Amino acid sequence: MKLFARKHDPAADIEDIRRAGKLPAHIAIIMDGNGRWAEKRGLPRNAGHARGSENFDRIATVCSDMGIRYLTVYAFSTENWKRDKAEVDGIFDLFRKYLKKSCDEMVERNVKLRIFGDTSPFPEDIIALIDRAAELSEQTTGMQVNVCINYGGRDELVHAARSLARDAAEGRLSPDAVDAAMLESRLYSAGVPDPDLLIRTGGDMRVSNFLLWQIAYSEFYVTDTLWPSFTKEELCHAILSFAGRDRRFGGYGKSRSGRK
Ligand code: FPP
Repeated sequence: MKLFARKHDPAADIEDIRRAGKLPAHIAIIMDGNGRWAEKRGLPRNAGHARGSENFDRIATVCSDMGIRYLTVYAFSTENWKRDKAEVDGIFDLFRKYLKKSCDEMVERNVKLRIFGDTSPFPEDIIALIDRAAELSEQTTGMQVNVCINYGGRDELVHAARSLARDAAEGRLSPDAVDAAMLESRLYSAGVPDPDLLIRTGGDMRVSNFLLWQIAYSEFYVTDTLWPSFTKEELCHAILSFAGRDRRFGGYGKSRSGRK
């Protein structure tokens, strides 16, 4: 697209995109490739997760500065419990560190934080930090970061279906009243618009049980870059690619507009 063709100035491209009203309101990211990043360097996998966590912080700041309204990241899936205990413990230590830092800086950075997923098996100190982050988020007005931990798209849908079934069984809800909006209101993502752009690093062309309901019309951007190496410049490239697409939502494209 000509409008967004400045090759070496991603910041100017983003400004053009914002002016054209084509900035994605919601970006979702599958942050894949931490393990491979570490293995390539002869480091333990947890060193990759540590670099991945730092990069997440960097990219979240870039998104917030750009004016992105929502950022949702896949940090730990319901299937990731299959990994070695040492790796899982290492990832949870990173969550703890991130949550502490977020609570300290959230008001100053003016961001909101929400956790999507089943938090019931988490240690008490992590639950307390999540609750504190939710309280602090009531004071802030900026970008909302949604971190998916112990999250699975299927698990989220089962959880929502169970909550509707419980209300129906207890006479609070007629089964015929169930519609898409009502189901959405029982998802972890209730109140959050669907992602416009889904980025996957690490090169795999799959969805991996991420936001199965919410990505129905998201635009995909898949890159071979491993998550710790994903830069602001590549994020701009992904947004540029998004801004040039013709989103049809099952209707007609621009080529048809004006035709009878
Ligand atoms: C996928 O890479 C990444 C994970 C399963 C963990 C993601 C965790 C982080 C980015 C760090 C913590 C995040 C926060 C929010 C503080 P992989 O291990 O599957 O990589 P591979 O495909 O190369 O093996």
